[in-house]
Amino acid sequence: MRTPPNKRGREAAAAVITGRLNARVTLKAQAQGNVAACFDGYRIELGQFSAAAIKRALALRAGLPIGALRAARSVTEREVALLVRRLAHSGLLEYRLAHGRAGKDLVMIEPQMADYWPEVARLNATDTVALSRFAYLRRRGNDMVLESPRSPALFRICDPKIAATIATLSAPHKVGRLRQMQGSAAFALLGLLFACNILFKVDAKGDSPRLTEGDASLVVWDFHDLLFHTHSTEGRQANPTGGRYPYVGVIAPPPAVRAPWSGNAIDLETFAADRARSPFATLLRQRHSTRDFDDAQPIRIAELAQLLDHTMRVQWKWTTPLDFGDGNTGCDIDYTRRPYPSAGSAYELELYLLVNHCDGLTRGLYHYDADRHALVPIMARAQDIEAQLAAAQFAMDAPAPPQILITIAARFDRIAWKYSGIAYALILRNVGVLLQTLYLAATDQGLGGCAIGITNIDLFTKLTGQEFYVEGPVGQFALGRGREVGESG
Ligand SMILES: Cc1cc2nc3c(=O)[nH]c(=O)nc-3n(C[C@H](O)[C@H](O)[C@H](O)COP(=O)(O)O)c2cc1C
Repeated sequence: MRTPPNKRGREAAAAVITGRLNARVTLKAQAQGNVAACFDGYRIELGQFSAAAIKRALALRAGLPIGALRAARSVTEREVALLVRRLAHSGLLEYRLAHGRAGKDLVMIEPQMADYWPEVARLNATDTVALSRFAYLRRRGNDMVLESPRSPALFRICDPKIAATIATLSAPHKVGRLRQMQGSAAFALLGLLFACNILFKVDAKGDSPRLTEGDASLVVWDFHDLLFHTHSTEGRQANPTGGRYPYVGVIAPPPAVRAPWSGNAIDLETFAADRARSPFATLLRQRHSTRDFDDAQPIRIAELAQLLDHTMRVQWKWTTPLDFGDGNTGCDIDYTRRPYPSAGSAYELELYLLVNHCDGLTRGLYHYDADRHALVPIMARAQDIEAQLAAAQFAMDAPAPPQILITIAARFDRIAWKYSGIAYALILRNVGVLLQTLYLAATDQGLGGCAIGITNIDLFTKLTGQEFYVEGPVGQFALGRGREVGESG
């Protein structure tokens, strides 16, 4: 005899994760079986598939259990699994966690990184877990969302009981105890959250959670700084960025020049005694952005060497003991002197050069060693180099990629080791100072350049292998010989 369904029975229904098409996306199949995903005016080709696979794939609108895709056996199932993987790779799927296939939504998972795939990490009943100090719950529209700048996905919480469970994890809890309290779907959620770094295992030795979450490079990050870094760049978040004019029709365009204060203005023109401009004042006025480069006469390595010498090179070094007044820290700090100013003399900024066209230099990625005044090649995949150059071309709306793309990266620990709460703000200020220094040096040498406002922190990780919180891009500058004639006039 079958046991009648009851509350306990419902709780025991296995947790199921289904993948489904993002509501913005439509799948379009052509007669030959070519399938494309269409959204917001974009089209991504996904490959050629059989009619049976395309028919099954239409179920993605409602959702397909992703566990079954992993176990795909028949040719059609394997085709569907491939199509789903390709959609996931482009960030076009979202995932739903529920008690059984027919259960109501508990959590919807929205990927923030292109290749996110839901993994349920194995946790032991004896493990003790807690919420990451970078995780946060907030209202978005009518939803409650759980996010973290360390997570490749965002979790939309559909059941308030789940939100309550998450809130309890502000303090460490044994996994076994949580499982008893919450049932199998919540247990699966723990594994999902752990795999996304929203939960972490608390050290049994009782060390400070700040020290035990992640590695030494993560220790120095403040919550708001890491959130700002991941949300003001591309690569680790799915929100649109850049000049999208989101408030057209909502707020009138703010004026280019501030409305004057009402006090009596003192006309400074009457004080301009010497009207002859100094060479520096002339240089300042000559500076402008160059987006179109003359590839028939690319920048030469000697010019690049001079520009780096004038802007970034270490001039001298010294060491000072850290002294809070009692002279007893036992800690020595190294400093450098360079041509541009830097908060606290930290000089945390590094230059990575993607060389596209430079006379005397092989195409590829280089790090500028500012101490040795040398370029050190870095092995990078051709597809990542092309993607980086294409992104720069797109950002400048330029006819071709720049001759050299300079990425300004920050060694976050160098500045956050000293400054609390303002580390990232200082980095961005230093980037502004360095950008103007690069602009002026390029102008002085008859070269052209253009700052670029958007960087992709995940692409930088792919190019260099550096974790996004260890060393990451905070600015970019396109450099080369400008195509314009008489540009310096
Ligand atoms: C921080 C910063 C970011 C910028 N980002 C871009 C960019 O992404 N694309 C672009 O074409 N120009 C970019 N620019 C260049 C500005 O558009 C340019 O400085 C401005 O229009 C003034 O023109 P000028 O530099 O020729 O004087 C950026 C400039 C700065 C300082």
